[in-house]
Amino acid sequence: MTTPTPTPNRAPTHKDVDLHRLAGLGMEVEELASGGPLTPDRMLALAEEQGKPVSHYYAAVALATELELPAAPVTAVFCAGKCQSWGALDAIDRAASEWERRGGGFAIGVRTCLDRCADAPVCQLRTPAGTATLVRVKPDDVAAALADALA
Ligand code: FES
Repeated sequence: MTTPTPTPNRAPTHKDVDLHRLAGLGMEVEELASGGPLTPDRMLALAEEQGKPVSHYYAAVALATELELPAAPVTAVFCAGKCQSWGALDAIDRAASEWERRGGGFAIGVRTCLDRCADAPVCQLRTPAGTATLVRVKPDDVAAALADALA
């Protein structure tokens, strides 16, 4: 018998991306990956070209085990699994817009779980100084944590 993953006992605040839709987005990202590394600029360009939120493509990467995102000395790693129901996609979109605004300087990673499900949404900010786990993270928290890490 497996222990169910604890989820917040708060009502979901957001809607997950439908799994069929994620599978389709995953195929688009696979095609992108065949032309080079999945850097935020390439992910952003794909999202803009297709008129879809870049976070949806990141959620598709989290599901596709064969796809890898490049890391950097500072990497913001998001849970794009069940945390979607509590606003993970908004946090990812904010990280991507910070990346655009700053012209880079960090990488974006995704996982299907970061083992802090009860405190969704969750982001790990990995830096040379260590890893900070941000819980119940809001888009503004992501921007502030990145500003601190990149100062
Ligand atoms: S689903 Fe476990 S941390 Fe997001």
